[in-house]
Amino acid sequence: MYQLEQETPADWWEVEALYDLCFAPGRTALSSYRLRDGVPTVAALSAVLRDPEGPVAAAIRYWPAEVAGHDVLLLGPVAVHPTRQGEGLGAFLITETLREARNLGWDRVMLVGDAPYYRRFGFRKLEDVVMPPPTNPDRVLGVALTAGAWNGITGTVTKARGA
Ligand SMILES: CC(C)(COP(=O)(O)OP(=O)(O)OC[C@H]1O[C@@H](n2cnc3c(N)ncnc32)[C@H](O)[C@@H]1OP(=O)(O)O)[C@@H](O)C(=O)NCCC(=O)NCCS
Repeated sequence: MYQLEQETPADWWEVEALYDLCFAPGRTALSSYRLRDGVPTVAALSAVLRDPEGPVAAAIRYWPAEVAGHDVLLLGPVAVHPTRQGEGLGAFLITETLREARNLGWDRVMLVGDAPYYRRFGFRKLEDVVMPPPTNPDRVLGVALTAGAWNGITGTVTKARGA
């Protein structure tokens, strides 16, 4: 049994270590990180799964961002410890937090990731939404939490207002 918990400030470096383990070196050079620089996470949606012995087995964070003045929720990074991958933890974290995002009133979520994985959660390529370069446009994906929430939304993803 895993415990789903909101990430606390005390978890920050343990989650960073998990991301370092799971992603290629230089992950913070990705353009998505420029949207996060100096911007607090959406704390209510950033979560960890702990295994019975206590270490973090999986983690997900969210940041606010904007496209042409519209609020968007930026999903990621999400990672599952290599010894726990393929057990459904990633799917559980994503499904639970997307449901909570809808409950909290978010309309649309986007990410940069592998379409073959995220398709199962409803994510599709965002044809008219541009991430700061260098980003492969085929990896820019979105899901609407309310009907038609991505309709007519075009432009470059920018940092959340006031950030
Ligand atoms: C990607 C990740 C979050 C998925 O979490 P997970 O708990 O391992 O995966 P789940 O148990 O939810 O789902 C497993 C399924 O996803 C598939 N899958 C996993 N990663 C995939 C990927 N990058 N592309 C396509 N399919 C993928 C598996 O083949 C498996 O398919 P099946 O259900 O048909 O057997 C996790 O493997 C991970 O942390 N990977 C390294 C970090 C990373 O790449 N994160 C971001 C992905 S863009």
